[in-house]
Amino acid sequence: MSVREIVPGIYAVGAPDFDRRLFDSLIPLPHGTTYNSYLVKGAKKTALIDTVDPSKELDLVTNLVKARVDTIDYIVINHVEQDHSGSLPMIAELFPKASIVVNEKSKDLVTRLLDVDPARCMEIKDKDTLDLGGKTLQFFITPWVHWPETMVTYAVEDRVLFSCDLFGTHYAESSLFVTDEREVYISAKRYYAEIMMPFRRNIADHMEKLKDIPVSIIAPSHGPVHSRPGVILDAYRDWISDTVKDEVVIPYVSMHGSTEKMVNHLCEALIERGIRVKPFNLTVTDIGELAMALVDAATVVIGTPTVLFGPHPQAVYAAYLFNMLKPKTRFLSLIGSYGWGGNTIEALKGMLTRTKPELLEPVYIRGAPGVSDQKKIEELADTIVGKHREIGIHQ
Ligand code: FEO
Repeated sequence: MSVREIVPGIYAVGAPDFDRRLFDSLIPLPHGTTYNSYLVKGAKKTALIDTVDPSKELDLVTNLVKARVDTIDYIVINHVEQDHSGSLPMIAELFPKASIVVNEKSKDLVTRLLDVDPARCMEIKDKDTLDLGGKTLQFFITPWVHWPETMVTYAVEDRVLFSCDLFGTHYAESSLFVTDEREVYISAKRYYAEIMMPFRRNIADHMEKLKDIPVSIIAPSHGPVHSRPGVILDAYRDWISDTVKDEVVIPYVSMHGSTEKMVNHLCEALIERGIRVKPFNLTVTDIGELAMALVDAATVVIGTPTVLFGPHPQAVYAAYLFNMLKPKTRFLSLIGSYGWGGNTIEALKGMLTRTKPELLEPVYIRGAPGVSDQKKIEELADTIVGKHREIGIHQ
């Protein structure tokens, strides 16, 4: 592993994880990830901004040796999730004089989740500063991006924002800075969709709070460093806005082909009406791709057959994700087929407790779809067109 200089006196000392394929036992990582840790050397004091996942703690220690670090005075914990704080016990043991810089909420979490002596914690408040000698760190408490204790740290003189998870990407690459902006944009959107989307209102508040701070570099805790911060900031402004696109996302599952026929007919009808469709067969879908599609789409239609007494478990999973991720979707409908009964529609509706898109009349039919059922699907397509027109996204 290697130590890379971002600007004089500020170094990246974290570790890539090219092979990791799943995060939180949930999120697919097609491009691996990185656990970024940053060293800030002032004339008088040295600070370490976040640590790394415990699986990479020896990489961090090796990098600190390579950087000839004799003393660390402060270990700043922007976020307590263990991919950033998990190596704190080892680093705290190696540097016993270091104070652990936390806020009120992270102090509670760090001492509950990790073997850390509370007496070593130095509690800061919003906008407090720390003088390292020619380098000043300023802390901004930014809750819910994406835990309640999250904060960001700003290197004032160098205009570097250490944003932790915010503006991050699960994207492992050898270069320190973003080189392929398009690839990183896609990975950042996936990351936003899977992790940050439920908190878009919080993100909007934080971006407003930070808007007057001059930022030359954004150094997140996952993925490459942004030397053109405007690119990622503009992307976030778009994603967190209330603007939706003239698109319909259709997560579906089919057992014997009836629901699939309905989905295909709906896709055709929408395409003929000039609306972009994104169908996702849930039996083979990467949920990250589905989550990304949910960032922008105006409408979602979930397709499911009835299994025994209710929706197919894959459709339950999709509805659960939809409810948890809280996309800005404006309209929702349900389509599918049943054999003899069940409460599929009511069960799915009942799952949507955290998000309230307008529900468009579901099309739920018995058996294989016939001509009259196809007409109902076309009527649903017409309704979607009308709704998209109402909100000004369809000509
Ligand atoms: Fe990268 Fe919320 O941890």
